[in-house]
Amino acid sequence: MILIDGKKISLELQSEIAQEVKDLISKGKKQPHLAAILVGDDPASQTYVSSKVKACENVGFKSTLVQFEANVSEHQLLSKIEELNNNDDIDGYIVQLPLPRHISEQKIIEGIKPSKDVDGFHPINVGRLVLNLPTYVSATPFGIVTLLERYNIPTEGKHCVVIGRSNIVGSPMSILMAKNTNLANCTVTLCHSKTKDLKEHTLQADIIIAAIGRPNFVTADMVKEGAVVIDVGINRVDDDTKKSGFKLVGDVQFEEVSKKAGYITPVPGGVGPMTIASLLKNTLIAAKKEF
Ligand code: GUN
Repeated sequence: MILIDGKKISLELQSEIAQEVKDLISKGKKQPHLAAILVGDDPASQTYVSSKVKACENVGFKSTLVQFEANVSEHQLLSKIEELNNNDDIDGYIVQLPLPRHISEQKIIEGIKPSKDVDGFHPINVGRLVLNLPTYVSATPFGIVTLLERYNIPTEGKHCVVIGRSNIVGSPMSILMAKNTNLANCTVTLCHSKTKDLKEHTLQADIIIAAIGRPNFVTADMVKEGAVVIDVGINRVDDDTKKSGFKLVGDVQFEEVSKKAGYITPVPGGVGPMTIASLLKNTLIAAKKEF
């Protein structure tokens, strides 16, 4: 079994991005600038956003964090979005999800200017992904294909089973893995909560991408010997032995599945750090106005 070290690859990517930032600045270009909007006080969202802001510093980006109380109105949020859309110094920005229930995520996402939507969530960018046009690939799927690439894991003609069909991970992931490119070209099965006999599907998989958000959901009996197992889950489960009172576990039962898998990502230290590196990469693409 080979452990896929997402932290290491993320740091490699970040040093490549930092070099590109230096090159841009030496050519008299401005510092790339990422902004993030965080609403409310969800601890997981706060952790993710502060990691994103910190990563900006690591690579030499400028960053702006815009915070709102959970009771902010949809109108106030849309006004801020309009302001960021019109601020020429900001190359790209994200609105951390989930948002409080009284705010329509769809309305907010549709308010983001597609050229600044470095999360790749706007319907125009999702459409561009489907049509094979240059776009921002959302950060987690982008990070996963980069991991497969950097570990030279063959994908062409392989059977990839994606578990979970969220807009953020499962759906774009399934589209990406099916593409006719050298980073994908898989036969893809997209499984979800209504899939019958899930195990029958996963046992056929050369590559399993678990993005269902349920702790330890994928067990060893569901995995073919030698399969590549990518764990997207970051679930908080109670753990009295930790100071924080919780530990992070993935969607995959790591202990037993790692004995069968050919390659596997750990949680933490697998997909998570790659999401951040990919967001930085998208911001660099935005700053360079590559499309
Ligand atoms: N919530 C969970 N993952 C993400 C992400 O990649 N981007 C944003 N904006 N919110 C998230």
